Amino acid sequence: MNHVAINGISLAYERAGRGHPLVLVHGFPLDHSSWASLVPHLTDTFDVIQPDLRGFGASSAPESGYSLEDMAADLDALLTALNLPSAFLAGHSMGGYVSLAFARRFGPRLRGLALIGSQAVADTPERQAGRHTTAAQVLEQGPLAVAGMAEKLSANPDQTSFLRELILRQKPVGLAHALKAMAARPDSQALLASLQVPLVLVHGLADSLIPFDRSREMKTLYPQANLTELPGVGHSPALEAPAETAAALQRLL
Ligand code: MLT
Repeated sequence: MNHVAINGISLAYERAGRGHPLVLVHGFPLDHSSWASLVPHLTDTFDVIQPDLRGFGASSAPESGYSLEDMAADLDALLTALNLPSAFLAGHSMGGYVSLAFARRFGPRLRGLALIGSQAVADTPERQAGRHTTAAQVLEQGPLAVAGMAEKLSANPDQTSFLRELILRQKPVGLAHALKAMAARPDSQALLASLQVPLVLVHGLADSLIPFDRSREMKTLYPQANLTELPGVGHSPALEAPAETAAALQRLL
């Protein structure tokens, strides 16, 4: 992997292909390797940059500084380090929340946005409380506390063991802070409605973590959005239906 020193941490990223810069922002509790099936479908058109967010994968896991805005600032700094004035962003689930934080703070650098199995609404108070409980469990038990998510991340049972291994590689400090960061995220519906760039929405109709209604609601807020719904696909379209997900991302152009 490549590493770049930014914002006081070492940020790891993979890069493949040529063309329009596209940053793939992974979900929770994963890292850039969750994009592996998708990337070969994109490399003819895009310069595909796949960071590990702070606290995940091969990136540093500092003790603090984990708001979604901090993670968005890392993406901004990564673009600067790569001499890219702007880029397309595609975020999976939590990566979508980070991408929305990027749109809020670094809008002029955003050429287009794709939200894959994600949402613009904030957490309910119950969901926030649940995340804080899970964060405490992760600090006590390690990633095993969230390993059960492997079964919910994909509707394809053949992918459970890959996802479970990926989750078990993650660091407790990064997982716990990311849970708290997701709980603290603001509602982004007004931001979404005010976007001035292409918006692509991809959602599996068998998503058991974030209901597909969330993407339909976002399409209502931003009617020009291009919505792809994937029957039989769960929370991880990039893994479960990579060709269809790549075709949807081409519609950013
Ligand atoms: C994710 O897949 O990134 C998370 O499940 C998102 C969430 O918990 O809201």
